Formats: sequence, structure tokens, C-alpha cells
Amino acid sequence: MARSAPALHGRDNLPTHATALVGRDREVADLRQLVLSDDGRLVTLTGVGGCGKTRLALGVASSLIGSFKDGVWLVELAALADPLLVPQVVASVLGVRERSDRSLLAALVAFLARRQVLLVLDNCEHLIKACAELADTLLHSCPGVRLLATSREALHIPGERAWRVPSLAIPDPRSIVPPGEVVRYSAAQLFVERAQAVQSNFGVTPRSAPVLVAICARLEGLPLAIELAAAWVRALGVEQILERLDDAFELLVGGSPLAPSRQQTMRATLDWSYGLLAPPEQIVFRRLAVFVGGWSLEAAEVVCSGSGVAPQEVLGLLTGLVDASLVQVDEQDWRARYRLLEPVPPVRPSAARTFGRAGRCSIPARHLFRVLCRTVGARRERRGASSPGRSCRARTRAGQPAGGAALVFGPGRCADGGSDSAERIGISGSSKAPSARAGRG
Ligand SMILES: Nc1ncnc2c1ncn2[C@@H]1O[C@H](COP(=O)(O)OP(=O)(O)OP(=O)(O)O)[C@@H](O)[C@H]1O
Ligand SMILES: [Mg+2]
Repeated sequence: MARSAPALHGRDNLPTHATALVGRDREVADLRQLVLSDDGRLVTLTGVGGCGKTRLALGVASSLIGSFKDGVWLVELAALADPLLVPQVVASVLGVRERSDRSLLAALVAFLARRQVLLVLDNCEHLIKACAELADTLLHSCPGVRLLATSREALHIPGERAWRVPSLAIPDPRSIVPPGEVVRYSAAQLFVERAQAVQSNFGVTPRSAPVLVAICARLEGLPLAIELAAAWVRALGVEQILERLDDAFELLVGGSPLAPSRQQTMRATLDWSYGLLAPPEQIVFRRLAVFVGGWSLEAAEVVCSGSGVAPQEVLGLLTGLVDASLVQVDEQDWRARYRLLEPVPPVRPSAARTFGRAGRCSIPARHLFRVLCRTVGARRERRGASSPGRSCRARTRAGQPAGGAALVFGPGRCADGGSDSAERIGISGSSKAPSARAGRG
């Protein structure tokens, strides 16, 4: 009979949070079930930075402490830069030592081979390959090990169940929610709890209720954005916070000094993801800055190709951005439609390079004008119309709702309707770029 492995010291190393987990009852219950199921040996929580992956994983992990004989162990990877050290970090959490006769990975596998543990690999996105290799090895060699990973991008290995973390619940901004009901929605509850932490008499009134609902909707129920916005109640009224969300890049700053630096501001959160993109993905992401209200693949192929990106590469690069949780994909009339989360556009790294303070367009917008005029022109030429460049002009308009510039296809100037052409390639009426904000260096 196999000799049983010595027990680990204690049952878990999970942190105790100063604040309670808000909402997520359903998600914790579903994930508990998944992690314990035959299909759930590797579950990866994915989603945009600050959507609550780590917090949810820890909630699930703590609810599972009694379910793993040898405990539940958190391995924090966010601060680790060297992928070669991933096995070492796991080993040090478990107290496994390197021996001269075998590699650390072999020692780790031997240690875990007969144990029942849940390992929480937190923040894998910058170490995807190393985490994928380790997870693959453990899944094959250690039948009692289960892995709950968090990552902005899935590990993409066989047996993985990627689980997209949803936003916190928000009330429908078009409905009238009584003040007493507002905090029944987890996004609003998080706002109120964080607001009360800095201003103890903060409460929901008949006047503030719809404003709170609007703030949560604008921030798409993204916990980090809500926390950063709520902290402003110490200096601003909720109506002012809502107004200033047009300039969200300026407002969504000032995270807790205890939070990791990538979560100090929404910009830092997005920069972390942007920095992990391959250069052509960065180019496409910057060019997507011109869209508002979503876009189709066809529109992206027109707008994002050129100067280093071939049209046929756009789908792959766009998929890379979806994988990195920077772009959301929805289905509309059986076709994929893409968009950025509302708190994302104002902090896109391209913002300053794309648009000047007064909504002035610079390179990417000019690029868009050029390709759209070319597209519209080519269509006109195919139909035999003359001089497309003169009859179809793109111009910018400042003062859009979010203070950005908008693309307008000269109505009435194109015999075949420029805006119609723009619509046909999937650009919704006017395409807005974010207003000027400092970009990533
Ligand atoms: N359900 C929740 N209840 C209370 N606070 C939450 C909840 N979800 C997230 N938060 C808070 O929001 C912030 C961001 O959450 P978290 O760190 O889990 O995001 P993340 O998706 O792991 O981000 P990253 O990709 O940067 O690692 C944290 O301060 C966290 O405590
Ligand atoms: Mg995290």
C-alpha cells in the first residue's frame, strides 16, 4: 500500500478580508459545484482587470476548505515576473524543498501525487505559458489536485474550464428603483459600502437613488471602477461623480494604498493588460479607440488594417483582445458584435495619442477617415460614380456626450450616402473616440 504523505501544516493560507464579499452568492454556489465536479479539475476565472476574479476565487476557495483533506492553498503570482519561478512559488507555499537528486517540479509532483488539495493560482495572465505547463503536469500526475486559477486570459489547455466572471448586478437604469431597493443590486451595494467607509453618514435618498443607479450602469458593475468612484463621496456629491465619469480617466484613481499598484487606477489596470499584448494586438487595440457602441468584424477589418496589419489578420488579433478580456463579444442577429466595457475606453492607452484635448483628431482617426473614404469611394467607383474623394468627406465633430470627437459621414454629400456605407460596414451612426487623457508611455 502506498505510504500516505505527511499532512500539510494547517488547512489553508487564505487571507482574511477587512470587507465582506458583496453579492456573488450564485456565482460561489455554481463555482463550488463546478470545482468539485469531474469537469472542474482546472477552472479559470477570466475577465477584465478589476472585475473581481481574485475576490470571487477567494470566496469560492474559502467555501471549499472542508472539502479538501490536505487544504486550500493560495499561490499569489501577480508580483512574480520570472515565469521560471512559478513552480518555486507553488513549492514555497506548500513547504516543498528542492532536493539535489531531483528538480523542484519533480519534488512538487511527488509531494502532491497523493494529496487532495485545491490550489488557487491567482493572477496568471502574465505567466500564461508557465502556469499552463505547471497545471498540465499537475492534472496528469496528481489526481487529487484541483486548480482554481484567475487570469485575464485563459490558460488554453485541455481539461480547462474557462469561466467568465460577470459584472456585479446593476438595476436597469431606465426603471425607477425605490431608494430602499437600490442596495439589493450588488453593484449599488458595493458603491454604498465603499462610500460609507469614507463618509459614515452616506445613505441612499430618493434624489440620489437614480444617480447611484446611473453610476453603477455607467461603470457596468465593474467592482474596481465602483470602488474608485465611491471613494470620491468624501469630496463630491453623487451627481458630480456621475458628471465626472465623462472624464473617468481623471476620476477613477486613488485606490487603497494596500491594493496592488495595477489597481490604484483604472488606467493602471488597463495598462497592465495592454502591456501583455503582442505589438500587432496593441496596434489593433489602439485603432479600436475610434468606435463607440460596438463594432462588427467587417468594420474592424476596415478600420484596424493597414500599416503593419493585414485585413485577414484582424480577426485573429481581435480574438486575442477578446481572450485578454479587453474586448467583449456579444451576439446580435446571429453575428458577433464587439465592444469595450464602458469604464475601459477612457483609459485606453491610445487615448492621448489618438485625440487631443479639444477632441482634435490625430493619426488613428485620420487613418480611419482615410480607410472609410477609401471604402466608400471604392464602392462608388464600382458603381461608376466619379471623384469619390471630393463627394464623400469625413469630418469630426467635437462635443459628443463623452467630450470626444465623432466621425460623421457628410450627410447629403455622398450620392450613395456615406453614412449608409458606414452603417453597412458596421459603424453605428457616429463613432466616438475618447476625450483626451494621458496615454500609456
Ligand atoms: N464581490 C465583491 N465584493 C467586495 N469587493 C469586491 C468584490 N469584487 C471585487 N471587489 C473588490 O474590487 C477590487 C477588484 O477586485 P479583484 O482584485 O478581485 O479584481 P481582479 O479581477 O482580480 O483584478 P486583476 O485582473 O487586476 O487581478 C478589489 O478591491 C476587490 O476587493
Ligand atoms: Mg486578481
